[in-house]
Amino acid sequence: MNSIVSAFINEFSGKEEDVRVFFAPGRVNLIGEHIDYNGGHVLPCALEIGTYLAIRERSDSNIFFYSENFPEAGQIKIDRHHLVKDKKDGWTNYPKGIVHECRDLLPATGYDMYFYGDIPNGAGLSSSASIELVTVHALNTLHHLGLSKLELVKLSQRVENQFVGVNCGIMDQFAVGFGSLDQAVLLNSETLDFKYVPLDLGTYSIVIVNTNKKRGLADSAYNERRETCEAALEKLKKAFPITELCHLSSEDLKQVGSLLTDKEMKRVRHVVTENERTLDAVKRLEENDLISFGERMNQSHQSLRDDYEVSCHELDVLVEAANRQKGTVGARMTGAGFGGCTVTIVEDQHIEAFKTNVAKEYSRLTSLEADFYTVKVGGGTRELTKPEALAFKI
Ligand code: GLA
Repeated sequence: MNSIVSAFINEFSGKEEDVRVFFAPGRVNLIGEHIDYNGGHVLPCALEIGTYLAIRERSDSNIFFYSENFPEAGQIKIDRHHLVKDKKDGWTNYPKGIVHECRDLLPATGYDMYFYGDIPNGAGLSSSASIELVTVHALNTLHHLGLSKLELVKLSQRVENQFVGVNCGIMDQFAVGFGSLDQAVLLNSETLDFKYVPLDLGTYSIVIVNTNKKRGLADSAYNERRETCEAALEKLKKAFPITELCHLSSEDLKQVGSLLTDKEMKRVRHVVTENERTLDAVKRLEENDLISFGERMNQSHQSLRDDYEVSCHELDVLVEAANRQKGTVGARMTGAGFGGCTVTIVEDQHIEAFKTNVAKEYSRLTSLEADFYTVKVGGGTRELTKPEALAFKI
């Protein structure tokens, strides 16, 4: 095992003291799904796993990308003045998009960038937001750009929306930027007001279970859900003084049936109840009532499955299997859906049995094997100190 700094030097040569190392976490959303583009409240938290970037400026205008996760790709060289999205460039589109978005603020020189990530790729734990934030945080620091954390978050979301072409909300980038040790982030996605909610889980832990299902059409289905919400909002604006679907209450839902198609009604019902459920769940968490918090997680899953229709067989199998285990408080799909991961709260003494039983049931009912991660809630994006960087082995 090498430190990330010596791995960088092996790849790009030069002196260790010229290399700086940055970190951005992945995230898991505890509750509040598919409402960050409807003005709702969400409750994600940052994870201890994430993306590391060792970086050094160059004197020419080239950017060399290397990822420890894709060593077979070798170094990828891109001219700093020709940054365009290309599907075949895979993960490098994220840092490319960031440099492109910052182009007017940066000198015309390039970089050597060495990435290493310990988030499972494509599992819905925001590896892409993590790459975006680690890159923009590094550029902001290296060049003293003076951008605030919120500006870095918004800039990253813009890259995802405009450069990468995924019309996501702001939750992922916000959680990655503003994450805080042992705390979840309650974010109002309309106003961007937020507060930290301590996650004092005592003898319980967050267990993330990966379906390992490829999320084939996830992006187009995601954009389609957004369009349906927008169409429903336009109709409802004629009858209610609202600018976001989350301005409605579940009381209001009794009067909207005749204004919407059946499909729109189901989507709106999810959005409105999920927003209320999230606020209610936070209250339970603050009262240390983990059991009631878990019930809200289960209700969230049902609503995503039946009304928003973004779950899938594999996610449902994991949630149902989890709920049959001793020590499970609540389980739900997390992130965009159609695959990816579930998030579960499990009592520590039952975690080993939980893993064995859920793994067995999952492989019996699907053609796949599940992966389990008992995770810790970590801090947001930051630079590693020199001793931390030298000690961090990959
Ligand atoms: C993805 C998006 C987020 C959010 C979730 C669903 O992770 O990037 O903005 O919409 O899906 O809650």
